[in-house]
Amino acid sequence: MKTILMCEPKAFAVNYEINPWMNFNIGKVNYFVAYKQWENLYKILQNLNVNLVVMRNQPKDLPDLVFTANAALVINGNALISHFAYKERQSESILYNDFLRTLQFKTDTYFIDNDIYFEGAGDALLEKHKNILVLGYGFRTEKKAYNYVKNFLEKVSPKTELIHAELINPDFYHLDTCFCPLDNGYIIYYPEAFSKKTLNEFNKKFENKLIPLSKEDAMLFGCNAVSVDNNLVLNKASKELKTKLQNIGVKVLESSLDQYILSGGSAKCLTLELSLLV
Ligand code: ARG
Repeated sequence: MKTILMCEPKAFAVNYEINPWMNFNIGKVNYFVAYKQWENLYKILQNLNVNLVVMRNQPKDLPDLVFTANAALVINGNALISHFAYKERQSESILYNDFLRTLQFKTDTYFIDNDIYFEGAGDALLEKHKNILVLGYGFRTEKKAYNYVKNFLEKVSPKTELIHAELINPDFYHLDTCFCPLDNGYIIYYPEAFSKKTLNEFNKKFENKLIPLSKEDAMLFGCNAVSVDNNLVLNKASKELKTKLQNIGVKVLESSLDQYILSGGSAKCLTLELSLLV
């Protein structure tokens, strides 16, 4: 059974522009629609037997706190806390750190203490079958974060291999907008978001497990999906993608999240798996 952290969207809004999706969207979020959409995602996950932990009392000045994927990299009961690239989100780290500590996670604030940018599970995703952690860099997480993520893994999950993935497309500024390891060992991804070198490395490591998405599906945040056993929860998928996934035994569950896309996020960004064990 998975445990997932979400944050009740009491103060979700677009109040600044720190990624291309947010441009010209200041003040455009409909609070009530956004709340309903979040609730619907919550209910879908609940019906899939996910154990949900919810942060409440979102402060007005931290509208992006709902994107809990960015809180930390959580693995084997340890949380490597994010240090956000933009000052608009930097104080979120304190709240996430405190919250994870109250849940008894061992937290590590190396990136804050050393002023290196790292945006948690938004840029660090584990492929469990091969035990490979993919670390994205280029827009938010800094290239030099790699060394400490490696040290952290050596301490908390020594058998996990780490690979570095260069993001080159500003619309796909976090790894979780263009790469999603599924519970069954397949990976959906958007090739145009990555450098040539990274694509070669993916091909070497993941071979026939890689499923590319069309631009249309990628722009619908198809890769920003939550995998729960044979289900994949996402904003919206084309017929073609649904068939592709059906062919590998995966059922797509759509949950409209267009209010969050105004901010550059979707299903995966709104969740953080706390139960990752390697
Ligand atoms: N507005 C937020 C930001 O720009 C969206 C974060 C989306 N999170 C994610 N894990 N991709 O930081």
